[in-house]
Amino acid sequence: MFELDSDPEVHKHLGNKTISDKNQIAQVINFVRQQYIDHGIGRWAIIDKRTNAFMGWTGLKFVTEVTNGHKNYYDLGYRLIRKYWGLGIATETALISLDYAFNTLKIDEVYAAASCENLASNKILQKVGMNFIETFYYEDINCNWYKIDKNKYDIKR
Ligand SMILES: CC(C)(COP(=O)(O)OP(=O)(O)OC[C@H]1O[C@@H](n2cnc3c(N)ncnc32)[C@H](O)[C@@H]1OP(=O)(O)O)[C@@H](O)C(=O)NCCC(=O)NCCS
Repeated sequence: MFELDSDPEVHKHLGNKTISDKNQIAQVINFVRQQYIDHGIGRWAIIDKRTNAFMGWTGLKFVTEVTNGHKNYYDLGYRLIRKYWGLGIATETALISLDYAFNTLKIDEVYAAASCENLASNKILQKVGMNFIETFYYEDINCNWYKIDKNKYDIKR
């Protein structure tokens, strides 16, 4: 997690807030663990089955703070250590996350946001079937807002 969040390239489209202290990582991990306790779901670690290496995270986060006028919704996201970029892992894990959202958790809809300049992330969200809704500003970053519901997901699959 420290390798991931101390990399300026990883945080280029995330507001450039890299982490320089491993104690901050412990807080992030505690937050994710608390999400499982409070909401029954949180981001998943992506593990390379051949080496057992941590590659990054993916999946669902229950967002309680207001984002683009929404709160108490499920967000789809992903963040990979740079050496694992370009292998299709974010796309593959985003699809698995949506499958889990709609078929296991029985969630009605999932949202996502990406900086308009984050071309890779926007491409992934469109590829997995998310609908572009509108642009909005999040902490001064111009972002695209996406949504998918179960019907659209079933059609896409
Ligand atoms: C965004 C991120 C998760 C992508 O992970 P990844 O596993 O490399 O993504 P994938 O390989 O599944 O797919 C990326 C797609 O974007 C395309 N892409 C990558 N960089 C691109 C660029 N600069 N311009 C246009 N397309 C680009 C790839 O070609 C691929 O599309 P394709 O499968 O049709 O060829 C990874 O770069 C990352 O962790 N970035 C930092 C954190 C971040 O930005 N997270 C998202 C926040 S919204």
